[in-house]
Amino acid sequence: MKTTPLWPDTAKMPKFARLGKDLKVDVIVIGGGITGITAAYLLRKAGASVALLERGRLVSGETAHTTAHLTYVTDTRLSDLVQRFGHNHAQATWDAGLAAVRQIHQIVDDEQIDCEFRWVPGYLHALPRKGREEAPSLQEDARLAGELGFDAIYIDEVPLMRVPGVAFADQAKFNPAKYLRGLLRVLRKEGCHVFEKSEASSIEIDPPTVQANDHTVRGKYIVIATHVPLQGATNTASAALFQTKLASYNTYAIGANIQPDILPDASFWDTGSPYFYLRIDRYRDHDYAILGGADHKTGQARDPQKHYERVEKRLRQIFPKITIDHWWSGQVVETNDGLPYIGEIVPRQFIATGFSGNGMTFGTLGAMMACDAFAGRRNPWSSLFDVHRKTLFGGTWNYLKENKDYPYYMLKQSLEKPGANSLRAVARGEGKVILLDGKKMAAYRDPQGKVSVKSAVCPHMGCIVRWNGVEKTWDCPCHGSRFMATGEVMAGPAEAPLSDPKEGLFAV
Ligand SMILES: Cc1cc2nc3c(=O)[nH]c(=O)nc-3n(C[C@H](O)[C@H](O)[C@H](O)COP(=O)(O)OP(=O)(O)OC[C@H]3O[C@@H](n4cnc5c(N)ncnc54)[C@H](O)[C@@H]3O)c2cc1C
Ligand code: FES
Repeated sequence: MKTTPLWPDTAKMPKFARLGKDLKVDVIVIGGGITGITAAYLLRKAGASVALLERGRLVSGETAHTTAHLTYVTDTRLSDLVQRFGHNHAQATWDAGLAAVRQIHQIVDDEQIDCEFRWVPGYLHALPRKGREEAPSLQEDARLAGELGFDAIYIDEVPLMRVPGVAFADQAKFNPAKYLRGLLRVLRKEGCHVFEKSEASSIEIDPPTVQANDHTVRGKYIVIATHVPLQGATNTASAALFQTKLASYNTYAIGANIQPDILPDASFWDTGSPYFYLRIDRYRDHDYAILGGADHKTGQARDPQKHYERVEKRLRQIFPKITIDHWWSGQVVETNDGLPYIGEIVPRQFIATGFSGNGMTFGTLGAMMACDAFAGRRNPWSSLFDVHRKTLFGGTWNYLKENKDYPYYMLKQSLEKPGANSLRAVARGEGKVILLDGKKMAAYRDPQGKVSVKSAVCPHMGCIVRWNGVEKTWDCPCHGSRFMATGEVMAGPAEAPLSDPKEGLFAV
């Protein structure tokens, strides 16, 4: 099975050069997904000079893997939000999402970006055959949403799903690749310094300075928009403590042509945990559905293929006749209390993370807040999403549940012996942890037969990575770092690749 996200096939991104000289700007933005590109755009529009540094290609991280529902409805149910934070804060959280959707719409209008932006209804609905059981809690969600000023009504039968649910107005969807291509074109026109293949390899804050490709970018402010934040100028203990508040989950999506029908152009999410999320897009000559779900903690699935199968099965229940053309997966980062962390982690070093399944909106909001922080403007959400908030709103149970993995896997893995001690055990196109010279190695043989052998020890905090045979990646079960088959970092918190074994350790 070839796994590639839909969006890169729909919009070719402009290319940008590597950083090849020293530079001085007002703001250095690290990370070229929706958060970083929007931050660069808003800062540039506000008159700041900006350098945007991307490790690989722009819009190739989680933003390329999204399903791009634009919603203020959070993964945490409204009744839970109200219970945890009270009415005002729950309302402020949803207001933040709506402000971000409106910001995206404003940019689309201002820059005339053709990205299929559409306001659509969104439906939160009961699980199949659980309608009667779930109706009261859905009625309560609709009542609460109305009380907080959102346009939501309870309905007995959600279109297509035929179960009770809540219909929310002011939801939207778009093509994120076309949207960000539009922003990148504006950045190029406005003389913003955008660089690809330019990994921020060291960050200093006094004064704000970033090294990439052996060159130095100096600025007055740094925005870290790398999904899982780089440590930067935070000290190691604080960075490790902050990491305990985040948990990475893999989520799976399938895109398929469906029979043209009288279907609503809409978004849907069910009440499951994990939940399935569906968007239907109507085109002139065909209708298209994208269904996502079947999440699991990164690195902890026994067989990732089964998660795709679960999504496919559900999609076929909804639409019996489909032609699947895209399978992909990616990561979402959850937090201990369900709210994102957005703000300065140390003075002049701004981070935005923990977006759960709302990264299109919270990423955009993070960019808006970064722009305010640089300008010294008050922002209505800065205390709510404060990076240093102390109260563990999620309660002790959640905190312990999410952090049991590190000691558990460290202990389990120290007792585990890899099944093989020879590279011959690694088939073409596959990876395996093998024991070489008493050390656990992440060995991969590409389809042409070329072998790569790296240490299987995750450079973040020492757990042993696992082979993900579907995505052809090494995934760490402890805090969710991911590495390419040949060891390069794909997703943090690890900031370094899987290390090379000592020379002469093995012969291929
Ligand atoms: C399957 C799936 C479905 C989703 N559906 C939705 C949805 O419907 N609605 C929604 O709102 N959200 C959704 N999300 C979540 C959303 O896609 C993400 O939260 C969002 O894209 C994160 O954007 P970002 O810019 O913060 O991170 P990314 O897009 O990951 O960008 C971060 C960038 O930083 C770069 N980087 C990392 N380290 C460095 C370094 N040292 N130097 C330079 N660059 C570096 C990376 O290469 C990457 O390009 C979904 C996610 C997935 C996986
Ligand atoms: S040990 Fe933390 S991500 Fe691997």
